[in-house]
Amino acid sequence: MLNQDQTPYVDALLEFAQSDPGRFNVPGHQGGIGADEALHLLVGQTGLTNDIPALIEGIDVGRPNPFQEAQQLAADAWGAERTWFLINGASQGNQAMCLAVAHRGPEIVIQRNVHSSVVDGMIMAGLKPTFAAPEVDPDLGVAHCLTPDVLAEALDRCPNASAAVIVSPTYFGAAADVASLARVAHSRGVPLVVDEAWGAHLHFHPGLPRDALDSGADLVISSTHKIVGSLTQSAMLHLGRNSRFEAEIIDRCISMTESTSPNSLLCGSLDAARRQAAIHGEQMLGETIEVLSETRDELRRIDGIDVLDHSLLENESVADWDPLRLTIDVRGTGSTGYRIAHLAREMANVNLELASDTVAVAVFGMSTGTAARARRLVDGLLAALARLEATPPESKPEFALPPPWGPTEMTPRDAFLASHDVVAFRDAEGRISAEPLATYPPGIPNVLPGEILTRETLDFITDSIDHGGYVRGAADRELTTLRVVSSNP
Ligand SMILES: Cc1ncc(COP(=O)(O)O)c(C=O)c1O
Repeated sequence: MLNQDQTPYVDALLEFAQSDPGRFNVPGHQGGIGADEALHLLVGQTGLTNDIPALIEGIDVGRPNPFQEAQQLAADAWGAERTWFLINGASQGNQAMCLAVAHRGPEIVIQRNVHSSVVDGMIMAGLKPTFAAPEVDPDLGVAHCLTPDVLAEALDRCPNASAAVIVSPTYFGAAADVASLARVAHSRGVPLVVDEAWGAHLHFHPGLPRDALDSGADLVISSTHKIVGSLTQSAMLHLGRNSRFEAEIIDRCISMTESTSPNSLLCGSLDAARRQAAIHGEQMLGETIEVLSETRDELRRIDGIDVLDHSLLENESVADWDPLRLTIDVRGTGSTGYRIAHLAREMANVNLELASDTVAVAVFGMSTGTAARARRLVDGLLAALARLEATPPESKPEFALPPPWGPTEMTPRDAFLASHDVVAFRDAEGRISAEPLATYPPGIPNVLPGEILTRETLDFITDSIDHGGYVRGAADRELTTLRVVSSNP
């Protein structure tokens, strides 16, 4: 019987590498022998030695099967019925999730500001979405979570929904009332999927928001590399206990979205990160939370700076907040989060996760909230702010609530697969969009493939850009043209 202090998959990889195997299989660098000097410098001999292909007896084939054991340990650690390691991030989890939902039926209720990988998944799976709008904080220009009432109303508009998909916690650390949202979905016989990309650590400390599996979610997408600290691109998909999804279908959907050559370093990093979270998570998170609490106090004392905290709970859709996201409200400086993040990098080589007009977000890993690192962050911000004083005050962009999204004419898949015209932005009114467009702030898609481009939406996009916002999703990043569904198919 294995326990959480063990790393069966990592151990099997190390044992294989240390046995000095004759390597006449892939990868072609064969343990580093054939690797370019630059690859050696990048990954190191240890990384090359442990870059071991799939389908090796004693690692991921046969019994015992350390790869399966590692996934079982992860399921136990997070309280899942079953867990899959993903090598293409939570993005893969969302795509596999959409394929699994489509197996139940074509209709789905989706929080409008889901990650782009959910939109891609809907295109792959041919899903027909009904959207639920997240609450928007007009002061910060940030989208928060879904309220149970908004989810209930969206499910009423989509009585044949095969699943409801929500996002919690958000990029900015706001957490939804997932337990109530699960009750709303389940009372209608609909499974709840939670994109918990930003919350892989929540399960491991009682002071953090309650995690999605514990709150009754049927399927949870977790970007383990984000806060729990496995290697970039590694993630997990968790099936809830008593889930309304079938494990065998999920399994098939994952293999459909994944390379047949999963990377051993990525999967091994998940095994190691799981051990760290399960064994040391509570203590490490406790220390990080404490340091960040002091850092918040220090930041609040800086002129013009505030930080997001419990006050997030004043928003109806926010049930809790995650202190590991240090969201710095810069409105009082008269400048923008973009400018301050840029200066922090230029002046102090301090790199932040995200910036918007109103905030700059620093992310801390589960075990990286040390006093020294917090000092580096605060000093970097002070260096940026000192530089701001020497430059003329910038005009503050105005934020207006986005207009309602246009009517849906086609599914995202049909719009994607249809023939397309490329038209001038100003001539796009009334056409069916073939691409998504989301203005930041607040990052909620104004248009998704298959929806009509309305005058209101086009004007809003133009206005946002004029006020310093930007738009994601269009193939033409200058937005001179848009891709629309061809009127002459
Ligand atoms: C809510 C959400 N879901 C999914 C993803 C995709 O995660 P990954 O980068 O692990 O593919 C992200 C990435 O930022 C995200 O914010």
